[in-house]
Amino acid sequence: MKTSDQLEPTVFVIFGGAGDLTWRKLVPALFDLSRDRSMPDHFSIIAVDRSEMGDETLRRRLHDGVKKFSRQGMVKTSEWREFAGHISYQQGEFKKLQTYTLLGEHCAKLEKEWGAKVHRVFYMATPPSMFGEIPKYLGKAGLAREQKLARIVIEKPIGYDLESARALNATLAANFDESQIFRIDHYLGKETVQNILAFRFANPLFEPIWNRRYVDYVTITAVEAVGVEHRGGYYDHAGALRDMVQNHLLQLLCLVAMEPMVSFEADEIRNKKVDVLHAVRPIDRDAVHQCVVRGQYGRGWVGGKKVPGYREEDGVSPDSQTETFVALRLFLDNWRWQDVPFYLRTGKRLTRQASEIAIQFRGVPHQSFPAESTLDWQSSRLVMSIQPDEGIVLRFQAKHPGPKMHLRSVEMQFDYQDAFAARSPDAYETLLWDIMKNDATLFMRADQVEAAWRILMPVLDVWAAAPPGDFPNYAAGTWGPEDAQGLLAQGHSWPLPAELSGHCPQEKKDL
Ligand code: BG6
Repeated sequence: MKTSDQLEPTVFVIFGGAGDLTWRKLVPALFDLSRDRSMPDHFSIIAVDRSEMGDETLRRRLHDGVKKFSRQGMVKTSEWREFAGHISYQQGEFKKLQTYTLLGEHCAKLEKEWGAKVHRVFYMATPPSMFGEIPKYLGKAGLAREQKLARIVIEKPIGYDLESARALNATLAANFDESQIFRIDHYLGKETVQNILAFRFANPLFEPIWNRRYVDYVTITAVEAVGVEHRGGYYDHAGALRDMVQNHLLQLLCLVAMEPMVSFEADEIRNKKVDVLHAVRPIDRDAVHQCVVRGQYGRGWVGGKKVPGYREEDGVSPDSQTETFVALRLFLDNWRWQDVPFYLRTGKRLTRQASEIAIQFRGVPHQSFPAESTLDWQSSRLVMSIQPDEGIVLRFQAKHPGPKMHLRSVEMQFDYQDAFAARSPDAYETLLWDIMKNDATLFMRADQVEAAWRILMPVLDVWAAAPPGDFPNYAAGTWGPEDAQGLLAQGHSWPLPAELSGHCPQEKKDL
């Protein structure tokens, strides 16, 4: 459980306070923190939005969200009442200075009431079109000025391409210092993602073999069984490359491939991550079709239910060319990883949900066992499962019991739930708590975001110039377009469906 004793009095101003993100993620996470006694002694949540509604209407809506999405499930009325007392609603236009003047007055009032300096977190939970506007108004109203007190939080998408990301970063920088800007990638708040650093750098065991000499290739997978749900409008404009690869998958790549950090300082870790992005070999425009595969789902069956094709989803154009699946092959040009392929894959409406990283080790340099012992031989592999399973599985060779020397693969498993009694906090709880603590380690810096866009620009440009002729090219409920196999070098494979988030079934063989 996190403790609240170091936290300063804080006002959360949520722009888009009547919206989906506030209802589904932010307020349930704040509620869970509060229930764990991890909120400051003095805090207030001001939801700002355009619609007319009073405090009570907003609280009722948020109560419903907390009941549905709070990690801790059941909400006691008394607990909710106590928490709801911290929430208020301010109706206002995001593009009117008066909205911000009122906010300033509200914060000044709280400062007086609490007899302390108030830390202000300005959270943009609005459509992206407002991301460039709100910081300007906060600047004009003098609310961005006090560096130690004011923070701004921005959700992805941070830009639509490199140019727009640069423009957005410039607007933010014109009004806030970089140390005040928190760019959220919620994947970085997941316990299992943070555990990648712990596993790599708190144990001397694997780091010596974490390189091109021992690693054959790496796969990074984040696939989902769900479709675009209620977000067709946003998604049809974005697509899988912008929605998942530019942020979540490249962040995972950074954590797997980065050099050991010297200290746990935010900028030290972010420097090491940005080094990875700078090392990614630029994708040659002429080779985009050989190293990146895109796909879009058609109708199919998922979990025994018939589901519509992407083009039939609400908010999606009936002749949409947007990709709902991407697989790509990247190389890092540095000493550690030269010539080791990193295969990244993401998609919607695949067979099942699974996010995981698999490190496939090379074979042994010399096979000393007799040929008949090694018929079932498979090289060692380490799988870090992010979700829905949370843990680490190491596959290695063992002697099968019996008079003959026969080798086969077995697994050693670490499971978060078994190892720790406590349930993992939701990623947003971790991230909101870090924002209150002013710790930017898990947030993306401007140069990271731009470096990630730079990697993908050749793909976006080539795709924009050559729309796919074959969409939809995979049926919902499958593992995506067959072309994704073509990216893999000989002898390499995507983790088999049975191995993804459902541990590899141990082969039962009579010997
Ligand atoms: C979001 C994407 O950032 O991440 C969604 O916009 C995706 O399209 C989601 O479904 C996946 O996150 P999680 O935590 O549900 O795996």
